[in-house]
Amino acid sequence: MTDSFYISTAISYTNGSPHIGHAYEVIAADVIARFKRLDGYDVFFLTGTDEHGLKVQQKAKELGINPKDYVDKVSKEFIELAKSLNCSNNDFIRTTDDRHKKNVHSIWKNLSDKGDIYLDQYSGWYSIRDEAFYNEEELIKSDKDSYLSPNGNSVEWIDEESYFFKLSKYEKQLLDLYENNKSFILPNSRMNEIKNFVQSGLKDISISRKNISWGIPVEENNEHSIYVWLDALTNYISALDWCEGSKSFDRFWPADIHLIGKDITRFHAVYWPAFLFSAGLDVPKMIFSHGFLLNKGEKISKSVGNTVDPIDLLGLYGVDQLRFYLLSATPFGNDGNYSHELIINHSNALLSNDLGNLSQRCLKMVFSRCDGKIPNKGDLNNIDLSLLNNAYDLYQKVLECMDDYRIHAYLNSIFDIISLANKYFSDEKPWELNKDNPDRMHSVLWVTCEILRITSILLQPVIVDGSNKLLDFLNIDSEERSFINLNPSFAVKSGLKIKEPQVIFPKFIRE
Ligand code: ME8
Ligand code: MG
Repeated sequence: MTDSFYISTAISYTNGSPHIGHAYEVIAADVIARFKRLDGYDVFFLTGTDEHGLKVQQKAKELGINPKDYVDKVSKEFIELAKSLNCSNNDFIRTTDDRHKKNVHSIWKNLSDKGDIYLDQYSGWYSIRDEAFYNEEELIKSDKDSYLSPNGNSVEWIDEESYFFKLSKYEKQLLDLYENNKSFILPNSRMNEIKNFVQSGLKDISISRKNISWGIPVEENNEHSIYVWLDALTNYISALDWCEGSKSFDRFWPADIHLIGKDITRFHAVYWPAFLFSAGLDVPKMIFSHGFLLNKGEKISKSVGNTVDPIDLLGLYGVDQLRFYLLSATPFGNDGNYSHELIINHSNALLSNDLGNLSQRCLKMVFSRCDGKIPNKGDLNNIDLSLLNNAYDLYQKVLECMDDYRIHAYLNSIFDIISLANKYFSDEKPWELNKDNPDRMHSVLWVTCEILRITSILLQPVIVDGSNKLLDFLNIDSEERSFINLNPSFAVKSGLKIKEPQVIFPKFIRE
């Protein structure tokens, strides 16, 4: 049976429309999902929306609509966004789905049966924006003698009855987990932060709020609703119908990677595994916490007024261009910058020039000088063979890069070969060979077609439409576009008719 692979994104809050940060995360997850499918895995790729809690309740109230109508509308925007971004998610989970609520009740029951839940009084700070409880030491003192959360959001003092989860009990088990699985949290720098946090001593956490109407009620005590983070984190198993004892749970759990942003690492790397330990379930294999996308160096936020609608960016640059920019311009894991200038420069240089020119120059010649058919391979010399071998070695290279999700490195290694191929094409000057040495011209064009085949197959996870158009021009069977087909035995076939090439990545004219 084929190996399974489960990847999830965070589920987005529905207190506002999707922004470019959400787009970034779901695209990155899609690239990984597509990569794994092409590499032969049976992939389950999940994304969704986090619809309960005070933040959403307040927003709906502000707009004068009832929360359910409001989240129905906003979650649609997230569903549409994933589609427009060419994302191949297998499911979309909403925390207001009945299938989800059942699982939240089950996990609560498991924790409770384990003796890990007790009722007490919570006195402390809460940030509605973060939907998080904080110790005073964690807060930032603001000028007006009030406190802000570590994310710079306002906090309020709460004094109310609350259910608690015995997080402190799992300190040792969590530290062992980090010790025994060095890649449990990637990038490594974030692992250190989390380790320090746990080593400094864990307190039990509050897992319910009183008198909050927009949440999943605690079954045995309807005055309480379940804390949004316990509700939200459970989505990763409710999408697999865990509480029904489903086959898909057996098949896909534990998840291979929860892809999230760095601001929510603690919830995923401390609370979630502790809940799972308590519930007697396996913990995910990896938490990858990516960086933040900054608009010209500034954090994107509604208060700064620099939020950008990702749909607008799609209209301006195109889906391939946006996906490619977001994943190749910044080492995955680091914070990334974007601006109009950066996107068009990057796209012009690598897509229009490097990849676009190579394919146009080569395929146009095949079309006009070779009767529109892949030419004869002929006798290849050392230069041809060395370029081809470099291209055939790419598969091993990109696998290594994607082992720890260095997506930018995977893309760079492909563009290195495209750049070599451009140099090869210019050096060999096939257009000058037509008259005196047509055999040699044929060989050069054959080699270049094969390089285009290999690089296009490998680029499919990111440049979904463009690379498939290139493979269409080359008339590569749709069943022969997986990584297994990178093998030379599937090389372009002499005599096969190609399609008339068109420009795939038009150049942006700078305004
Ligand atoms: O945190 N750049 O939802 P959310 C990159 N509901 N990523 C960003 C970003 C930016 N500028 N802004 C946000 C939540 N993100 C919870 C998650 S999971 C069980 C519950 C990322 O809508 C952020 O880090 O605030 C998170 O991974 C995702 O977008 C959703 O953020
Ligand atoms: Mg957030």
